[in-house]
Amino acid sequence: MEVEEGLDDWAKEVKAFEETKAGVKGLVDSGVTKVPRIFVHPRAELLKPEVLSEESSGESRVPLIDLRGVEGVERKDIVEQIRQACEHWGFFQMVNHGMDVSVINATLEATRRLHEQPSEDKVGLFSDDSSKKVRLYTVNGSVHKSRPGPWRDALACAYLDDTLDSEEIPQICRKEMEDYVQSIIKLRETLSELLSEALGLSSDYLSRIECMKSEFLTWLYYPACPEPELAFGAPQHSDPTFLTILLQDTIGGLQFLHQDHWVDVPPIPGALIAHIGDLMQIISNDKFKSADHRVLARSDQIRVSAACFLYPSAKNLLKPYSPIMELMSDNNQPLYKEVSPLEYAIYHQSRAMDGTSTLSHYKL
Ligand code: OGA
Ligand code: NI
Repeated sequence: MEVEEGLDDWAKEVKAFEETKAGVKGLVDSGVTKVPRIFVHPRAELLKPEVLSEESSGESRVPLIDLRGVEGVERKDIVEQIRQACEHWGFFQMVNHGMDVSVINATLEATRRLHEQPSEDKVGLFSDDSSKKVRLYTVNGSVHKSRPGPWRDALACAYLDDTLDSEEIPQICRKEMEDYVQSIIKLRETLSELLSEALGLSSDYLSRIECMKSEFLTWLYYPACPEPELAFGAPQHSDPTFLTILLQDTIGGLQFLHQDHWVDVPPIPGALIAHIGDLMQIISNDKFKSADHRVLARSDQIRVSAACFLYPSAKNLLKPYSPIMELMSDNNQPLYKEVSPLEYAIYHQSRAMDGTSTLSHYKL
């Protein structure tokens, strides 16, 4: 049948691409002038909804929160700003977050260095096996017609319960990866307290339920794209995490969906972005919102970023999570059924781009 033949061709193209073990960077280096169709997004998706740029959206300026003084008198005000950002936007940028600027710069440089090594030094790292703790990948095994691939390559390192054997990390970025995760752990503890307080719970609540005890660090490389109007660095998605901490370089291109408009997140040197993931939306019973976001492709610049996806401790990946009991009342009944982080992540991965939200599947 024709349809099936079409799908077969598609799958063959994905397979052939994966077998190059050179990623999107490899395609660009080989001199492609057209985006292969496995990366081409439907036109309708590319055009809508309308983008609201920073300049044209005075009142929609993305939340920027200064964490200076978080241990002092400013704390109450900071918690209130975080509450508003998480309820209305689902994300915020942070400055004075305590992560050293030298760690930030070293991370961005190491991300570039890792991805820009000669292809022969990277082939061994490319893998489509998502159970590997360390690997390079592009399409993550799920590219089909309704879900074209992203125009970027990713190095993923899984720190289950904050740990990963040093030897497993590529030497070329080992020190930087280890410094970065240590800084993230510190920041994670601060944010875990602030988010607990913003939910109206005791500061140690989120830390006690161990929902952010593992870091999946993903260092991303977005090569310049010969036809940026056809592809996305990252197509529209939500993150199936509790919280994501994101470091972007100065190129821009990250957008969040806010009140049905795409809003640019302006790069601020030294700033980090925190955004609520689907699992946090579930346990907060929709108080905090997990916002869809995407990354535009561009023709003239390479972009790098470092995303840290926060998940529970290994022993809790199969534990069911549901709306936090302490938040429930006669006026606030649970909106979600129980789901384990692993089940959620697998379901999210299987249908992330089919246009419906994964969250709605778990609504009561
Ligand atoms: C992601 C993501 C954004 C970025 O990897 O889930 O949204 O700026 N990344 O790289
Ligand atoms: Ni994301």
